[in-house]
This record gives sequence, structure tokens and C-alpha cells, in this order.
Amino acid sequence: MAVNLRGSWLCLKHLLPLLVETGKEGAVVITSSIAGLRGMPEIAPYSASKHALIGLARSVALEYAGRVRINCVCPSGTDTPMVQRFVQQRPDWEQAATNLSNPIGRIARPEEVAEAVLWLCTSATYTTGSHLSLDGGADCGGQGVFVHTDVRDEAAVAALAEQIRSRQGTATDDYPTSDFDALMAVNLRGSWLCLKHLLPLLVETGKEGAVVITSSTAGLGGMPEFAPYSASKHALIGLARSVALEYAGRVRLNCVCPASTDTPMVQRFVQRWPDWQATTNASYPIGRIARPEEVAEAVLWLCTCATYTTGSHLTLDGGAGA
Ligand SMILES: *[C@@H]1O[C@H](CO)[C@@H](O)[C@H](O)[C@H]1NC(C)=O
Ligand SMILES: *[C@@H]1O[C@H](CO)[C@@H](O)[C@H](O)[C@H]1NC(C)=O
Repeated sequence: MAVNLRGSWLCLKHLLPLLVETGKEGAVVITSSIAGLRGMPEIAPYSASKHALIGLARSVALEYAGRVRINCVCPSGTDTPMVQRFVQQRPDWEQAATNLSNPIGRIARPEEVAEAVLWLCTSATYTTGSHLSLDGGADCGGQGVFVHTDVRDEAAVAALAEQIRSRQGTATDDYPTSDFDALMAVNLRGSWLCLKHLLPLLVETGKEGAVVITSSTAGLGGMPEFAPYSASKHALIGLARSVALEYAGRVRLNCVCPASTDTPMVQRFVQRWPDWQATTNASYPIGRIARPEEVAEAVLWLCTCATYTTGSHLTLDGGAGA
């Protein structure tokens, strides 16, 4: 704890004021770990320190929003001298086992972690209080609840809604099903068709391909009155995680999850509801919505540099999720 946690805390405490004094926007990247995102039997204190770093970054990011961006990287096993010593000292800690424990089939290269840090420092101007996993796809899996419903049959879905309503009282009831269908046809079915028909072409090239899907912060949390939109964006994350597992080692698939971005769609909101902009700006710790270029930079990083990131999603939320 003295090194991993207290050391980082002392650095933030004494060095952040110096960054602020320069008058320019600063950026700090803290090295957490996948051990900061899940439990690690037998090395619990290590895992606890890495979890603590994420909490530290999220909280301090809120205090410094608009002045210093603070993010974490969360790599899994990386080819460093520490890991090389493990391999020499403990033949039972087989490199093979480590290689096989993630879909990309090898541990991370130090340069891959360095590229992520560089991106967070220089280009990620709308990302703060966030963390970026470099885990070779190990985080693709997850747990879900399966409810058997024939979604082609509107009566069956209405019956499911009735069941949910009787338990929770929160079913969406006024949303026209034709609008729901139109939205899913573009956001979800459209992405699915592109993956289905275009991924084989990427594989045929024989080079490692990369796909980035535009999800949204609405894919990470609920959005009252926009439930179908939010559902479609959640679905895209599930699609990317699952297809990433199928194509691991051949094509990397990731999502970006931007919050409100200054696009023509959002400009139409501003014309219709003039006070929307001030309220929305104020709802993000960074104090404004995202610029399209900021989303584009994230897509570019995921396509070109993020060679150890697949089945993951990258949040650009102006600190809202911190
Ligand atoms: C693990 O993967 C690395 C990189 O692909 C490879 O060089 C190494 O031989 C592999 N080790 C084992 C034991 O499979
Ligand atoms: C919202 O933020 C943008 C970018 O900083 C700024 O140009 C705009 O004037 C702000 N709008 C309001 C109403 O505060």
C-alpha cells in the first residue's frame, strides 16, 4: 500500500497543484491493473490497492475537472522484468497458461500500455475519471439473466411487460412499437449486418483488422424516456464483446461510448429547446459536451494503436461516470 496507493496519493497531492499553476490543462494517468477491476485470489492486497487507485482517480478527477484530467490504465499481465522473474522462479506459473487465459492469446507488450498512456495524456481531451482496460479481451465475458420470450410476438412481449409491471411498475408503455422497430433496424440490425458481411472481408486480407462501433453513454446506464435508444446502445456493447471473442486474434472489435456530442442531431435539440445547452453543459464535470473530433481521435486510437484491446468500450463522458 505504501508504494501502490499511498505513493500515488502523495504524488497527486503534491504534484497536481504544480500542473494547475502552469495554467494549461494537465493530464495524469495512473497505472491500475485488471486486478483493479475484479478479485484476485491469493493477492488480495495487490488487488485492493489497484481498486483503490481507480477510486482515487475517479474522485480526484471530479475535484480537478476542467483543469487536470485523471485517468487509469488497467493492463493485465505485461511482459515486464517483474513478470519475467515470475516465469523464471515459478515454472508452475506457466507463461502458456497466462497466454491462454485471454482471447488474444498472449500477455501485453509494454509498448501497448505506453501507447494507451500517451493517448490518454495527449488526445483524450474529453475523458477524465475513466479507466482503460488492456486485458487481451479477458473482460469480454459477463453474466446475464436469460428470460425466454419470443420477441417476434408482440403479445408475448406485452405479457412480459405486464409481468415486469406487476413486479416493478416500470414498463415503458407509450413508446410506439413502429418507432422502436425503426430505431433497432438502424442502430442494432444495421451494425449486425455490417459485421456479418464485412468481417469475413477483413479476415481475408490476412492482416489483423479492427472495428469500432459507436455505442453511447446510454449503452452504459439507463436513460428514462429513451429506453429503446439506450437498449440499442447496450446491445451494441454486447454484440462487440461477443463477436470480439469469436474473432480474437484476427479482428479487434471495440466500442466508443460518447456522451452528448456537438453533432447536427444535438444542434437540432438546441434549436428546439434553447436552454438545453446550458443545462447539458452543466451536467458534465468538464463543463461542455464532446467535440466530434474527440470521438474521432478515440476511434483512431482504437483502430491503430490499441493492439491489445478487444471486446472493450471506451467512455468519453466529460467525467460524468467518475
Ligand atoms: C506466449 O506468447 C508469446 C507471444 O505470442 C510467445 O512468444 C511465447 O512463446 C508463448 N509462450 C508459451 C509458453 O506458449
Ligand atoms: C456550452 O459549452 C460550449 C463549449 O464550451 C460553449 O461554446 C457554449 O457557449 C456553452 N453554452 C452555454 C449555453 O453555456
